[in-house]
Amino acid sequence: MKIIGLTASPRAAGNTVTLVTKMLEDAASKGAETKQMDLAKLDIKPCKGCNYCKSHEDCVQKDDFAKVISEMKSADGIILGSPVYFFDITAQEKTFVDRLYSCVDAQFKSRIPSGKKIAFIYSQNTPNRAAFEQNLAKYDQVAGMLGFQNVGKFVSVGDVKANPVEIEGAVALEKKLFDTL
Ligand SMILES: Cc1cc2nc3c(=O)[nH]c(=O)nc-3n(C[C@H](O)[C@H](O)[C@H](O)COP(=O)(O)O)c2cc1C
Repeated sequence: MKIIGLTASPRAAGNTVTLVTKMLEDAASKGAETKQMDLAKLDIKPCKGCNYCKSHEDCVQKDDFAKVISEMKSADGIILGSPVYFFDITAQEKTFVDRLYSCVDAQFKSRIPSGKKIAFIYSQNTPNRAAFEQNLAKYDQVAGMLGFQNVGKFVSVGDVKANPVEIEGAVALEKKLFDTL
């Protein structure tokens, strides 16, 4: 069983990376093969909107996006983590999400093998964990379009390193993901 964790925070040791690292550590301790990729550090250019991917199997742009998709295709479970920036995901994650357009064909059929499970991690400062629920629901739709089964989301609040409740919340979601695989 393979679980990959993708993070989209510019802060390499921030809350999102901390939570996803803990989740992958727990999965690895139970025998899963894990891989962590930092979307904020990879070379992933914005979608050109050229529609090349609607008459070809992949994206016209040859950058690190292909590496992430290759890992995704071989994974059983995916954890996608982003801080909340202005009530939404970061630009780094949105850039990645837009490029996922190349993973659906002209009939909007997913090119990613079906049956994969996905779990979302969000980090924010607003104490109300549900504050941005409506905005973040879009990414549940993206997952659905790609044929992923959505296991759920955990929204952390504040500095997670100082707060075991946040770590426990994220690891509980990973356990839920793990148990479906
Ligand atoms: C540009 C920017 C915009 C932000 N917008 C929000 C916001 O809309 N709501 C919120 O609760 N926190 C917001 N925050 C706080 C971050 O979501 C929070 O610090 C988060 O834990 C950062 O995650 P990271 O440590 O993984 O980078 C914002 C931070 C930045 C830098």
